[in-house]
Amino acid sequence: MAEKPFLLAPMAEISHRALRELVAGFGGCDEYFSEMISAGALISGGRYESWYLDNALEPEKFVYQLVSGNAERLANAASFLEPYECAGFDINMGCSAPPIIRAGGGVQWMTSIDKAGDMIARVRKRTKRRLSVKLRIGFAYDLDYLVSFCKRLEDEGVERITLHPRIAREKFKKGASWEYTGMLRKRLRIPVAGNGDILSAEEMNRRSFECDAVMIGRLAVQKPWIFAQARGLPLPAMIDLEEIAVRFLDMLAKYQPPEFHKSRAHRFFTYFCSNFKWANHVRTLLGRETELSAMRNVLEGFFRENPEERFASGGK
Ligand SMILES: Cc1cc2nc3c(=O)[nH]c(=O)nc-3n(C[C@H](O)[C@H](O)[C@H](O)COP(=O)(O)O)c2cc1C
Repeated sequence: MAEKPFLLAPMAEISHRALRELVAGFGGCDEYFSEMISAGALISGGRYESWYLDNALEPEKFVYQLVSGNAERLANAASFLEPYECAGFDINMGCSAPPIIRAGGGVQWMTSIDKAGDMIARVRKRTKRRLSVKLRIGFAYDLDYLVSFCKRLEDEGVERITLHPRIAREKFKKGASWEYTGMLRKRLRIPVAGNGDILSAEEMNRRSFECDAVMIGRLAVQKPWIFAQARGLPLPAMIDLEEIAVRFLDMLAKYQPPEFHKSRAHRFFTYFCSNFKWANHVRTLLGRETELSAMRNVLEGFFRENPEERFASGGK
């Protein structure tokens, strides 16, 4: 059986070029999703759009994820992006952040099969790119509704669905309901990517039997080498966490506008610090800093005082 694709999840303020470079430095993954991109800001020439649109390093593996509660804006954004090299466009029907829901976007699309279906039909007319949707189970644990919803998307031309199997507004505390991924997959013709709570390379391979592709979010921020580990690619015996942290800061400075530095560094280190025994301590120290240079000093001081924290094992 062919190996199932491994996908880097869309993560606001995280899945930008610097993270992609870290992942690619260890051998890469099969697809890299962008952060969610506001369709409205994109088509009205928002100030920061050039950073969101950066599809380096491997544009043929890059997926633009769009978010909006407005079908016309999503369709216009698809037209706008059509000339950009990429693997496809993804519509966000999973985000449960209150401002996104209030605007009718993200998981709010899942409240109406007809509205979501009509929106997809409009987007479909405007692009020849592979069109996918990332969604949740919905607003209740209702498999029949989820299947009907996804079948309509399939009928309108969606070519892959990623299921993050939680219901709307459910946070990470309660585990993802992976059984829904397997049940949905059995009822659809199109591939279903599985996502949620995967904690190890071994689990990535195990979960790949339950879906058509495996999407990884937070674990890939903590361990950008996880895709290589899951594929059994050669890794250094000891992975230098200080080198990764400092390189990440350097890439933030190089690839992102200064207004983004603080929020993006803090977001990244929320997950990357899970590699350390003193995770909360380092997060707190970094959280006090606003400048990348000060964060670098914090990290260098931490590794000087705690040399045993510097390396992670590249083994399984
Ligand atoms: C900081 C953060 C930002 C996220 N932003 C997005 C986003 O922009 N679009 C999206 O579809 N999902 C987003 N998600 C959800 C992830 O793509 C993924 O579904 C979720 O984290 C579960 O996968 P994981 O357990 O592998 O992290 C985000 C998650 C996190 C933690």
